[in-house]
Amino acid sequence: MSLEKRVMSKNIPNHIAIILDGNGRWANKRGLPRTIGHRQGAENLKNTAISCSKLGIKALSVYAFSTENWNRPKDEVDYLMALPREFEETYKGNFKEYDIRVIFSGRRDRFSSENLALIQKIEEKTKDRNGLILNVCFDYGSHTEIITAMKDISELYKTGKIELNDINVELVENHLYTKDLPPLDLLIRTSGEQRISNFLLWQIAYSEFYFTKKYWPEFSEKELLKAIDNFQNRNRRFGRIKVSKS
Ligand code: IPE
Ligand code: IPE
Ligand code: MG
Repeated sequence: MSLEKRVMSKNIPNHIAIILDGNGRWANKRGLPRTIGHRQGAENLKNTAISCSKLGIKALSVYAFSTENWNRPKDEVDYLMALPREFEETYKGNFKEYDIRVIFSGRRDRFSSENLALIQKIEEKTKDRNGLILNVCFDYGSHTEIITAMKDISELYKTGKIELNDINVELVENHLYTKDLPPLDLLIRTSGEQRISNFLLWQIAYSEFYFTKKYWPEFSEKELLKAIDNFQNRNRRFGRIKVSKS
């Protein structure tokens, strides 16, 4: 049986997250500027979203720019900040064909007014689509996400809308950026690094992890299938003792 057929015949994860890492090293290896790596990475994101959509995955969260990435050289930050503009054609064309909805997670107070308007426009134009939800984590940091949730919940308490005992897992989850997405099944990081770098710290509580040495621009559909195939052979016990394949 082909890898694709095998993967398709088993449980497909509902929600995959990917730390898109290694664009710079991919470019360096080829004697190219880092920006070319980011361009290739953006192209690969488009292809990967389409592959996920074809596989019937419900949500794909991608780490595209962290709250810490502002500390990179200005030229590189400027280049990365220009990438949402490139998305314009994609969401109107290929993504429309596959019914892909795009949402953005992260801070919104540090973008240019042009980028902010663009992000809002993409979300608005795709909001009624029913296929894959592509969650682009852009100026995203998990610490900020959790602090924002804590502040919102504190405000609810302060104004008497909730009691202390109303604070539970469900309430916290409803205040995270991911509130409309299914639980995170599988987290993939490319480029060989084995760390989380402030990504989805709450949401990974029971996710499976998959690390690959491939740099993000070379993470093809076949690599995605390999990651899902590997996931499908994990025993997810959620603290219980029953052994059941995912
Ligand atoms: C990932 O690639 C993209 C972003 C973090 C924006 P990197 O730019 O981190 O590439 P490496 O890790 O330096 O190779
Ligand atoms: C994580 O990659 C952030 C994104 C992929 C957007 P980094 O390259 O910034 O992470 P570190 O610095 O290696 O931990
Ligand atoms: Mg990196």
